[in-house]
Amino acid sequence: MEFFIDTGNLEEIKETYAWGLIDGVTTNPSLVAKSGISQKELITQISEIVDGPISAEVISTEAKGMLEEAYELAKIHENVVIKLPMTKDGMIALADLTKNNIKTNITLVFSANQALLAAKNGATYVSPFIGRLDDIGQTGMHLIAEIKDIYDNYGYQTKILAASIRHTDHVKASALVGSDVATIPYKVLNQLFNHPLTDSGIEQFLKDHQNAK
Ligand code: E4P
Repeated sequence: MEFFIDTGNLEEIKETYAWGLIDGVTTNPSLVAKSGISQKELITQISEIVDGPISAEVISTEAKGMLEEAYELAKIHENVVIKLPMTKDGMIALADLTKNNIKTNITLVFSANQALLAAKNGATYVSPFIGRLDDIGQTGMHLIAEIKDIYDNYGYQTKILAASIRHTDHVKASALVGSDVATIPYKVLNQLFNHPLTDSGIEQFLKDHQNAK
């Protein structure tokens, strides 16, 4: 399973990338806004830190504008993945980018049918937002399992990228249903390491070591 970090914070990317566990990065317009720098500058700086897929999202709502943005973003670095919204215009832009061998990530996916459309048009990644489904009283993980079944039925190569992860159980559940990737916020990445028995075990070992003759 691949881990991406879901952030526009360069310090978080540097710190977590050093762990050797991070395969790529996802950003979105909200995360770019928080970074305080332009998207172009942010993606350029991320590409200097991370050797792996970096999702950069378009903000146009019409296919023509999406494609203009996409081709500009793709020039920044070969690892750039163009994030497009799950709309009709997004699908038009996706068809074009697929034809031109540009990597894509279809975002704001909330149903299995939407994921099916993205795969049919050759998306590299599809991003089901599980936390936002949980927020409205649905079970986001069921969506990942449905998409997995559908993609397996037809051998689609589109990778499932579990997004909008809120807690460590989302990571475990994504792994259990076979999600290809999880994009994880900094806080949750840190929480993955934690277990009280690890802490107390280390403490005891150190105590015993110090008391050894
Ligand atoms: C995915 O690529 C998105 O950036 C992200 O996971 C959205 O998460 P949120 O629902 O916490 O904003």
